[in-house]
Amino acid sequence: MDKERKLIIAGNWKMNKTVAEAHSLVSGLKRELTNIKEVDVVVCPPFTALGEVSKAIIDSNIRLGAQNMSEHNFGAYTGEIAAGMLKEFLVRYVILGHSERRQYQNETDELISKKALTAHVATIKPIVCVGETLQEREGNHTQKVLETQIKGSLAGLSKAQVEETIIAYEPVWAIGTGKTATASQAQEAHAFIRKQIAKLHNETVARKVRIQYGGSVKPSNARELMSLPDVDGALVGGASLEDRSFADIIKNSI
Ligand code: PGA
Repeated sequence: MDKERKLIIAGNWKMNKTVAEAHSLVSGLKRELTNIKEVDVVVCPPFTALGEVSKAIIDSNIRLGAQNMSEHNFGAYTGEIAAGMLKEFLVRYVILGHSERRQYQNETDELISKKALTAHVATIKPIVCVGETLQEREGNHTQKVLETQIKGSLAGLSKAQVEETIIAYEPVWAIGTGKTATASQAQEAHAFIRKQIAKLHNETVARKVRIQYGGSVKPSNARELMSLPDVDGALVGGASLEDRSFADIIKNSI
């Protein structure tokens, strides 16, 4: 596939996989993906499996991501994990503001922007998630929601930092539901997000930013979604929990 930007496909394992299970999954992935160079492949295990997965992928083309991170660098923040701790495991990416965290942990755009800045300072690339709920889509508020989330969660980042940020467009109604956005819904939302980035900075910055689609991505729909001009990768939940299906998504996207 001839793309303007290199595809980045990340597996968000969420709260799944013990250390032993993580080891087995990533070993399978390494076998499946030995010669893949066309796509940046990232796995995001739970914190407890980062060490094991980090060791397992050291000689591979798979990169490591975390699912969350504190906006602070150290201190009295019980239960939190700092960027420096992730760096010890060679974590290169961090998912920020996933809709599950926005919903269950009340994460706001303002908090996400602070985390994104902390990540960049630590040279960890943030994957910033945005997306509308079903109610917002049906009420015709999708664009307003995306505009607010993009502006808020990228606030305070420099042009260079925005260029190195990955955006994940994940319509909340498509996450874990088996319902995928249609090609035209996805392309429209991605193009709109890119326009917002151009408005905040400029066209050059907007053209460099990679925008992933997320929400029930599977081997059967990956090719069509990844072929869209403004779709530059995928953030995969359920289908990333099994080596064959995650590898097939990647192979079908090339
Ligand atoms: P899903 O999850 O692929 O299971 O829909 C995507 C996500 O939440 O990142």
